[in-house]
Amino acid sequence: MKRYDLIAVPLALIALLAACTSSTPTPTPTLTNTAVPTRTPVTVSPELGAQLARQIGCAACHRPDGNSSVGPTWKGLFGSEQPLTDGSAVLADEAYLRESILNPNAKVVEGFGAGIMPQNFRDRLSDAEIQSIVEYIKTLR
Ligand code: HEC
Repeated sequence: MKRYDLIAVPLALIALLAACTSSTPTPTPTLTNTAVPTRTPVTVSPELGAQLARQIGCAACHRPDGNSSVGPTWKGLFGSEQPLTDGSAVLADEAYLRESILNPNAKVVEGFGAGIMPQNFRDRLSDAEIQSIVEYIKTLR
């Protein structure tokens, strides 16, 4: 082995290492499917929310057309004041919609029973999926 090889080989290795680390893409801060990691990450959209509402069964209890069924209608829900069974009222903002999906008994809408809505959507839906449903509800003015 020639003498300069002793320097050139480690130098080449360092250069290679540097190239590898610098080319590592920085992770993009998107919402990913944390609930079911085997699925590919989904992009938040109201269209996906509408699709999920049908697929996962929300639509069986929540109508988008202004008529209540088992659950309150979603039409005009976002931004409205929701009367609650404890006599108080809450502004239906994004945080409220999210809480109503993840923990339905936290605030129960007046005229409806607690414990009717499934309590396990937090295990079945990813952040991006929940956000998509929220975005869908927001379009139902
Ligand atoms: C078996 C019927 C049923 C299913 C299925 C169901 N819900 Fe509900 N939901 C209810 C009932 C009843 C209420 C009212 C009582 C309460 O506040 O928990 C409610 C309340 C809500 C509210 C608050 C509504 C308001 O007027 O303030 C939201 C938001 C909501 N559900 C979203 C969802 C989403 C999203 C899904 C599907 C992932 C879903 N629900 C599935 C029955 C259901």
